[in-house]
Amino acid sequence: MSDMITELKEELTQLVSAANDLDTLETARVTALGKKGKITAQMKTLGGMEPEQRKETGQALNALKDEIAGLIALQEKALKKQALDEQLRTETLDVTLSARPETKGKIHPITQTMEEILTIFADMGFELAEGPDIEDDWHNFTALNFPPGHPAREMQDTFFLPENPDEEGERAKKLLRTHTSAVQIRHMLENDPPHRIIVMGRTYRSDYDMTHTPMFHQTEGLVIDKNINMGHLKGCLLDFAKTFFEVEELPMRMRPSFFPFTEPSAEVDIGCSRKDGGLTIGAGDDWMEILGCGMVHPTVLKNCGLDPDEYQGFAFGMGIERMAMLKYGIPDLRTFFESDTRWLDHYGFDPADRPNRAFK
Ligand code: DAH
Repeated sequence: MSDMITELKEELTQLVSAANDLDTLETARVTALGKKGKITAQMKTLGGMEPEQRKETGQALNALKDEIAGLIALQEKALKKQALDEQLRTETLDVTLSARPETKGKIHPITQTMEEILTIFADMGFELAEGPDIEDDWHNFTALNFPPGHPAREMQDTFFLPENPDEEGERAKKLLRTHTSAVQIRHMLENDPPHRIIVMGRTYRSDYDMTHTPMFHQTEGLVIDKNINMGHLKGCLLDFAKTFFEVEELPMRMRPSFFPFTEPSAEVDIGCSRKDGGLTIGAGDDWMEILGCGMVHPTVLKNCGLDPDEYQGFAFGMGIERMAMLKYGIPDLRTFFESDTRWLDHYGFDPADRPNRAFK
């Protein structure tokens, strides 16, 4: 090997092994192997050599290149390990230190209840679907088979927003959604059947007393497939209610009702008993309404591009605050939104809790 190559090798080896951080190593790599680096510079001199010398020097330079590249890789590995060891040594966390009690937060009962409901339906194979809080008249009412002039469309219930001048007709008429049922429409229009979705979200109506707040939360379920019947609906809701209320034996009944978007429609009651002003969910001498449901109306299916002779299914909707009040014995709806930390401290949940303790 020529003196030149021996010298170059020594110089570059030193450069690489002296690099004690990744930036310096990168500079050394560029100096040694880069386009304008030392080895490349030597390669450029090959052209002026005799054939025999050119061959020998070329081979030697290539071997040197590989050797230096190998050294760089080794050095890089060593430096990375060193950096990680250093990080592990300095970033220790004393997990035995207690959290300061005054900074401990609580999960709001609405959040807790939403997570519990979602967990149960997710386990039954339902998918979470979402839609906008600002809806239009078509998705919120018309597509759901509300006839023109239906009382729910009127000003005292619905918060209407200024019309959108860029759109036409019912889609220009913006409003705050009055129920999560509008998401059924969006989901069916955007996806192919079968459908099995659960919706969680805010809903708005102009109302305020012990049992109504202008903003509240609903859960909506929709199942569409071939051969779905009311038996499936009842079975699904019974499984849900037993799991949610953590009661093994739970009587359930369906009372005929009316919703424009379902036919037949029903309201669902579960058994309970009331004693000394208290309420216990489970077999008892009384009933408690928990939700509305029914078989999706053929007109709704048609509005979403489905053939009602081929597809049918069920839907249900329930108030999340109501479910939380029943399960956790919270007496006044308005307190949910007063942001009173004493209330939250009392009714809230530990963030480390599992979402649904009933679910094993
Ligand atoms: N949207 C109804 C409400 O806000 C609740 C409801 C009832 C939803 C029956 C449904 C249903 O999907 O089938 O009162």
